[in-house]
Amino acid sequence: MSTNTATAPVSTVSVSAAQPWRVGLIGFGCVGQGLYDILQQRPEAGFTIGRIVVKTPGKVRSLPAERFEFDADSLLADDSLDVLVEVIDDADTAFRLVSEALRRGRRVVTANKAMLARHLPALVQLQREGRGTLLYEAAVCGSIPVIRTLDAYFGAEPLRRLTGILNGSSNYVLTRMGEEGSDYAPALVEAQQQGFAETDPSLDMGAFDPRSKAVLLAAHAYGAFLDPEQVLNLGIEGISAVDIAFAASQGQKIKVVAGLQRLPDGRVTVLVTPQLVGPESPLYTVDHEFNGVVIEADFAGEQFLRGRGAGGHPTGSAVLADLAALRQGFAYQYPKVAEAPEYASDLEVEIYLRTDEDRIIDLLDFSEISEEADEDEYVVGYVALANLIRHRDTLRKYGAFIVRTGRLRPVSTDELVAEVSA
Ligand SMILES: NC(=O)c1ccc[n+]([C@@H]2O[C@H](COP(=O)([O-])OP(=O)(O)OC[C@H]3O[C@@H](n4cnc5c(N)ncnc54)[C@H](OP(=O)(O)O)[C@@H]3O)[C@@H](O)[C@H]2O)c1
Repeated sequence: MSTNTATAPVSTVSVSAAQPWRVGLIGFGCVGQGLYDILQQRPEAGFTIGRIVVKTPGKVRSLPAERFEFDADSLLADDSLDVLVEVIDDADTAFRLVSEALRRGRRVVTANKAMLARHLPALVQLQREGRGTLLYEAAVCGSIPVIRTLDAYFGAEPLRRLTGILNGSSNYVLTRMGEEGSDYAPALVEAQQQGFAETDPSLDMGAFDPRSKAVLLAAHAYGAFLDPEQVLNLGIEGISAVDIAFAASQGQKIKVVAGLQRLPDGRVTVLVTPQLVGPESPLYTVDHEFNGVVIEADFAGEQFLRGRGAGGHPTGSAVLADLAALRQGFAYQYPKVAEAPEYASDLEVEIYLRTDEDRIIDLLDFSEISEEADEDEYVVGYVALANLIRHRDTLRKYGAFIVRTGRLRPVSTDELVAEVSA
């Protein structure tokens, strides 16, 4: 990765003594407004919003109309701006803008995890070729400083495992179901009323959003650039109170857990699915809209980060941290790319499956069944990860609900390669 030599000189004097940096802000929704508020409250931080671009003329906004423009491309060529912050809700346009800005050697901060997960290799390559720098702490777990921690702090240390609750919306629904004994639909409506879930909840509840974040974590934790489609994501749309009760009967909770782990043979695998989590795990107490990440490093041991994963101010705080890091000349190193491990999917995963469709059980072709309850329509046993990936759309279509126990083994043996308490 090239060091940062973009448009304005990197400051080596104290922040307060330095000339404020002018920020070009693209997008003034939840995150853009959040960053604006923070910079208003913290002029000492040394950043001013120079120009703001949005999409819709005539929309009622919290600032006078003359503060807004509508042509994002015009910011890319404006050398009076020291840095561009891209916080729009359209991944295709975001990729076009961010990649063009990098081609021009600009410094850019983005929060767009869907865009990053899809295009990270291309964006890293652009930085290698050019002079631009891209930071995106806000894209994973909002205010939790996990990307920079992995890239800079743990850059030299091998990691055994990373487990995280990376999506506050589904975590809120699961928490409320656990507290109230309620079913999925009312808990989702409540999450939407509280502002913790989108009107279209499919990206969050279907675990597409945490899958994007897991792909970004894999790049920094292991140097692995994964296609999001490679990663199994199963959501909670099919969950019912019966499943929560099953977990509770074992003293556990159901959480949507992103699990990234190194296998004994050095390969890595990434799974983003509901998982049983027991009280011995730090993730057990990460409830409501909160996010949490457990990092297990070879020498440091276990570390746990917990915080708010979304919202204007928490996410704006991560953008501010990136702005300050850029000013200090920081750039991601992707330190483990040179030793990037192979991605493993030839594994068997132990799952709890609840379905009233016998054909789903046939389709998944369990290699071993340890428990079967006809009354509650559930089965516990091992299935090939490849089958779960191949049939994930069918599972979703038929409302099947799956929870990982945390146990993994190589295909067709009963040798346990990993037991994860989440
Ligand atoms: N919300 C969170 O808590 C959160 C947390 C982490 C990451 N993120 C990510 O941050 C990004 C922004 O999220 P958000 O919640 O702030 O979105 P949002 O509230 O929906 O706001 C999106 C903003 O982008 C503007 N916009 C859309 N297309 C544009 C274009 N082509 N040119 C210029 N402006 C454009 C919109 O303009 P108008 O105002 O004119 O419609 C709006 O101001 C997303 O990628 C999201 O995934 C959000």
